[in-house]
Amino acid sequence: MKEMMQKLREAALQAILETEDVDSLENLRVKYLGKKGELTGILRQMGKLTAEERPQMGQLANQLRSELEETLETRRTALNEARLEMKLLQETVDVTLPGKKQPQGHKHPMYNVLDQIKDIFIGMGFEIVDGPEVELSDYNFTKLNIDEGHPSREWTDTFYFTEDSRICLRTQTSPMQIHAMETKELPIRMIAPGRVYRKDEVDATHSPMFHQIEGMVIDKGVTMSDLKATLNLVVEKIYGKGTVTRFRPHHFPFTEPSCEMDIQCHKCGGKGCPTCKGEGWIEVLGAGMVHPKVLAGCGIDPDVYSGWAFGMGLERLAMGEYKITDLRLIFENDVRFLEQF
Ligand code: DAH
Repeated sequence: MKEMMQKLREAALQAILETEDVDSLENLRVKYLGKKGELTGILRQMGKLTAEERPQMGQLANQLRSELEETLETRRTALNEARLEMKLLQETVDVTLPGKKQPQGHKHPMYNVLDQIKDIFIGMGFEIVDGPEVELSDYNFTKLNIDEGHPSREWTDTFYFTEDSRICLRTQTSPMQIHAMETKELPIRMIAPGRVYRKDEVDATHSPMFHQIEGMVIDKGVTMSDLKATLNLVVEKIYGKGTVTRFRPHHFPFTEPSCEMDIQCHKCGGKGCPTCKGEGWIEVLGAGMVHPKVLAGCGIDPDVYSGWAFGMGLERLAMGEYKITDLRLIFENDVRFLEQF
């Protein structure tokens, strides 16, 4: 019996050490030490032994059992560690490999120009305000002294939401003048950039949606010379020092007097070239002194307060600055175009 145990020990130890995976280790444990295993098989024969031999064999069997259990455990630990090591080795990430580059976008060229203008006005103490694109005709027209019969109120020119022409898409940012005068404390210094809408066919210079920047100052003692000085300063910051401007008389219902401001063509210096269409001048904005009727309509006493306002097209400005010849390029979002800025 002792020999049988000896043989079992040798065979078991060898089998355990040769095993390469944890699952077969478990099979070996069952095979040798399980309830129906080989050691149990040997111990069944205890009955044949003498009373003296029995405890000795029992002790031997117990020693063998714990030796094999220990060996199994050691092997199991070793196999698990090896497996982990292997896994770590196979799953290593080479952190020095170059990553996948995500293409990075940038601001749209027109918004670069807008940011530049915002900066200039913020520097002069102006506030930037935002307002509705869906507007009451009252604000888009009536309160701006634009009469019922005015051609810009026609359905052929303006997008309306209601049969009674009461609600529309704003055709200009000028209603922001009214919103500001009705809600803000005086004095007011503000610019209001935003989208405007008109029933225009799309071509190289027209789009049913475009952007304007409205500006307005209301205070005591504000004059036309303040308007000219401020706008000259803005133009110098955008187009460079010494840029020549000219103010031409014009008509807008909500300003009196009204004017349009031109800059001398920065391309040809006024001689006439394709950029200025041979004129030597480029029109940049409409402006004027806020009409007393408009002030009074907003509850501001025109005998105490006065103000000036201007409105300019943002696309036109960006096109001039970046030498873009077709307005559609600004809206098409073709990266081949946008990448160039
Ligand atoms: N809203 C005018 C337009 O769309 C532009 C304009 C002219 C705005 C004179 C003004 C202004 O504030 O004073 O043609």
